[in-house]
Amino acid sequence: MIVTTAQLYKVAYGKFAVGAYNINNAEQVMGLFRGCMESKAPFIIQISKGARKYTDKKILEALIRTADELFPESIFAVHLDHGDEETCYECIDSGFYSSVMIDASHETFDENVAITKRVVERAHEKGVSVEAELGMLGGVEEDIQVDEKNACLTDPDEAEVFVKKTGCDSLACAIGTSHGAYKFKGQQSLHFNVIEAIQKKLPGFPMVMHGSSSVPQEEVQRINAAGGKLDPSARGVNVEEYLPAAKLGVTKVNIDTDGRLVWTRVHREYFRDKPEEFDFRPPGKIFMAEYAKFIASRNELLGSAGQLEAVRKSL
Ligand code: G3H
Ligand code: 13P
Ligand code: ZN
Repeated sequence: MIVTTAQLYKVAYGKFAVGAYNINNAEQVMGLFRGCMESKAPFIIQISKGARKYTDKKILEALIRTADELFPESIFAVHLDHGDEETCYECIDSGFYSSVMIDASHETFDENVAITKRVVERAHEKGVSVEAELGMLGGVEEDIQVDEKNACLTDPDEAEVFVKKTGCDSLACAIGTSHGAYKFKGQQSLHFNVIEAIQKKLPGFPMVMHGSSSVPQEEVQRINAAGGKLDPSARGVNVEEYLPAAKLGVTKVNIDTDGRLVWTRVHREYFRDKPEEFDFRPPGKIFMAEYAKFIASRNELLGSAGQLEAVRKSL
């Protein structure tokens, strides 16, 4: 069943975080639904602009609608990840998406407010939730390149004003993470002081953590042992920090890179061990099972595992 992100946040806030997983194809959709059903977790399906263009946005819609039928117990939101204004309107008007992200974080504060406010008005007319972004995540976000050096954390005072002025339902905050497999150097981690300060300014208001992949060292090693050339210094978020962040109001945790690592490991190992093979279905089946296992493990760490019935009762 498709619900809004706002409906999920009502149950989750301060207790657990809802996993938001990016999908691009049928294998990811199957693995995601299986993993969430096995762990009895509500979840958020994220679709980026790149994913909408990969095959066709209608294919993704059909896959998700079919998965909804195959897994009638499921409760999830369908969310546009890193949308621009035009794509947000397309998704709001489609009647399929229950949530959109307007990412105008690269604009000035005032322009970000103005764009976000317009999207919120259009979205709320149709019962769609809106995530906005304030502050700059390091690394690469779709078309936007932000030098890690200039990455700036979200200012809690600005966050308070921004949320009041725009009426958005959740806010992606820059709290030390970045997209991709190379997030941290040395001993960096999440900036809990910033999370706490934002929660004080905006009690009860859901924060979103982008760039939340943990980049498991074992995956990186296995990929490299099977012919990959990932930089072994690749590092992600410490999974032990998910739940403490959730208790402070981080209610949505975005994970994409880790799923790509699972895919790469499965396929590299499969074809390394069976170089005579060329059928993509056997590794595809392994991937679906491994991705389901990965998703269930993340839901356990986020605290969303076992929360499906609580969400159902709240609807
Ligand atoms: O934040 C970006 C997400 O990981 C989506 O990546 O734009 O390559 O689909 P993508
Ligand atoms: P990762 O690259 O850490 O998986 O982050 C994904 C993300 O934030 C999608 O919006
Ligand atoms: Zn992101």
